[in-house]
Amino acid sequence: MQEAVCVVAGGGNGLGRAAALELADHGARVVVNDLGCEVDGTGSDASVPEAVAEEIRDRGGEAIAHHGDVSDFEYAESLIADTVDAYGRVDFVCNFAGILRDGISYKLTEEDWREVVETNLTGQFAPLRAAAKHWREASEDAGEDGFDRQRSYLAVSAGAARGSLGQANYAASKAGILGMVRTVSNELVRSNVRVNALIPNGYTRMTETVPEEHRPYTEAEMPPEKVAPLVAYLASEAAEDVTGCTLYAGGDRVGVLSDPAMEAVGVAPDGWSLESLSEHFREDVASDVDLSRTESYL
Ligand SMILES: NC(=O)c1ccc[n+]([C@@H]2O[C@H](COP(=O)([O-])OP(=O)(O)OC[C@H]3O[C@@H](n4cnc5c(N)ncnc54)[C@H](O)[C@@H]3O)[C@@H](O)[C@H]2O)c1
Repeated sequence: MQEAVCVVAGGGNGLGRAAALELADHGARVVVNDLGCEVDGTGSDASVPEAVAEEIRDRGGEAIAHHGDVSDFEYAESLIADTVDAYGRVDFVCNFAGILRDGISYKLTEEDWREVVETNLTGQFAPLRAAAKHWREASEDAGEDGFDRQRSYLAVSAGAARGSLGQANYAASKAGILGMVRTVSNELVRSNVRVNALIPNGYTRMTETVPEEHRPYTEAEMPPEKVAPLVAYLASEAAEDVTGCTLYAGGDRVGVLSDPAMEAVGVAPDGWSLESLSEHFREDVASDVDLSRTESYL
C-alpha cells in the first residue's frame, strides 16, 4: 500500500471520502475526484474534492484533487492521464460516484432514468476504460515480467441491484455494474489487473434521502469509515487473487455475494411448446425454486 497511487472517484463525500482517507492513512498517494454535485446529480463544486485532498494533506498524507464528471469519457481519460503525469502510474481506482433519483416505475421520467444510468453505469465504465487502456499499455511495456505490482479497479454497486422499490433506474445501473465487472475482470486478468464490485452500506447523505423512520440504520451503527478497510484491502497485495467478485462491507460485516447461476433446468428433446411448458415448467422443471419472488426484495 505504501506509495501506491490510488484514484478515488466520488471521493468528496460519504463512503468515497472515508475510503480516500483510509488509503492515504496507509501511505497511498491519492487523487480525489468528485463533481461536487447534490445527491440527485445537480450542481457542481470544485471545492468538494479539494476539501478532502486538503484533509489528507493536513493529516500528513499526499493527495491532489481532480474536479469533474466521471461519466464524461474525455474527462475520465484526463483523470487517469493527469494521475500518471503527477505520480507516474495508477495502481488502484475505486469509484464511488453515484446519484439517486427515485420514482415509481410508471412515473419515472425519461430524464431521471437516463441521468441515473449515465452517472452510475457509464460513470463506472468511462474511468474503467481509461484505466484499462493505461494498464494494458503498461503491461505491454513491462513485457513478460509483467507489472512490478498489481493494478485493480473497484466499482461501487449497491444492494439495490437485487431489486428495490422506487429505484428501477438506480437498481438497473447498479446491476449493470455487476455484469460489467464480471466481463472486464476476465478481459484484464492476463494483464495482472483485478476488477471487483463492492456493495456497501454506510450512513451518508444518501441514507438521509430515506425518511428517518424508514432508515435501515443509524450513523453510529454504520459509519462510512467501516466500509473503508475492505477498500484498502482490495487495493493491497493481500488481495492479489481476488478478482471478478462482488463483495460486501457495512458496519462490522464483510462478505462475498454469489454470482447469478442456473437454479433449475429442464430439457425437452424436441423443444418446448406452450402446452408442454404449461404442463411441466412449474411442476417438474422448477419444482424446487421460488417463482414468485417479489417479497424477497422488499
Ligand atoms: N451509502 C450507502 O449505504 C450506499 C449503499 C449502496 C451503494 N452506495 C453507493 O456508494 C457510492 C457512494 O455513496 P454515498 O452514500 O457515499 O453517497 P454521497 O452522495 O455521499 O457520495 C457520492 C459522491 O459522488 C459524487 N458524484 C456524483 N456524480 C458524480 C460524477 N458524475 N462524477 C464525479 N463524482 C460524482 C458526489 O458529488 C458525491 O460526492 C454511490 O455510488 C452509492 O450508490 C451507497
